[in-house]
Amino acid sequence: MALLADPESPPVWNWLAALAETGWAVALDVVPPALAADLAAEAAALHAADRLILAGVGRAEDFTLARAIRRDKTRWLARESAAQAAYLGVMETVRLALNRSLFLGLFSYEAHYAVYEPGGFYARHLDAFKGARNRVVSTVFYLNEDWAGQDGGELAVFSHDEAREPVTLIAPELGTLAIFLSEDIPHEVRPALRERYSIAGWFRVNDRAMAPSLQAPPV
Ligand code: OGA
Ligand code: MN
Repeated sequence: MALLADPESPPVWNWLAALAETGWAVALDVVPPALAADLAAEAAALHAADRLILAGVGRAEDFTLARAIRRDKTRWLARESAAQAAYLGVMETVRLALNRSLFLGLFSYEAHYAVYEPGGFYARHLDAFKGARNRVVSTVFYLNEDWAGQDGGELAVFSHDEAREPVTLIAPELGTLAIFLSEDIPHEVRPALRERYSIAGWFRVNDRAMAPSLQAPPV
């Protein structure tokens, strides 16, 4: 597959510069369209077979609390299909490109399918707390063909902690990949009015203290 590039010469992606500049980026040229279609079909089939389960909220696995914060169902990718293996292969290329161009020292990647049923949302949050966790770069790949404005379900991205208005709203359209810094970029999923499928994933470092940061460490 053309995108599974020789790691000696990873593709030059414009979104890498945007990510370094602003902490978030949208990429349309990372996952081949045929693979996106396969992933969309697999997500729908897994959901139809009831193989995605209600997500929790980290340590606070309290059901009532979790329901107030997020309403998605998830299933970890585990190379259980050729499409999953191919997606994880593409993300390995992305990991190498991030390390090569932004010196992030990313060590591994984990990802899950997610479905938000009608009315589903995820309240504003960060994917990692400064210094406390080892999620460094978040990715969300969207799997919904012909997503319309009236379907809601946008990813609202905020430039920093105090920002009240989002810098952008990203529609969860098939083929769109959102990428952002896990510790720095608050985000929320607006209520979706139709079933909304995605793959959320995180590049991690082994030891946060050993990882260089795009920003100065907190004082
Ligand atoms: C998450 C998340 C965003 C999205 O799973 O942590 O923020 O657009 N998902 O699905
Ligand atoms: Mn998130």
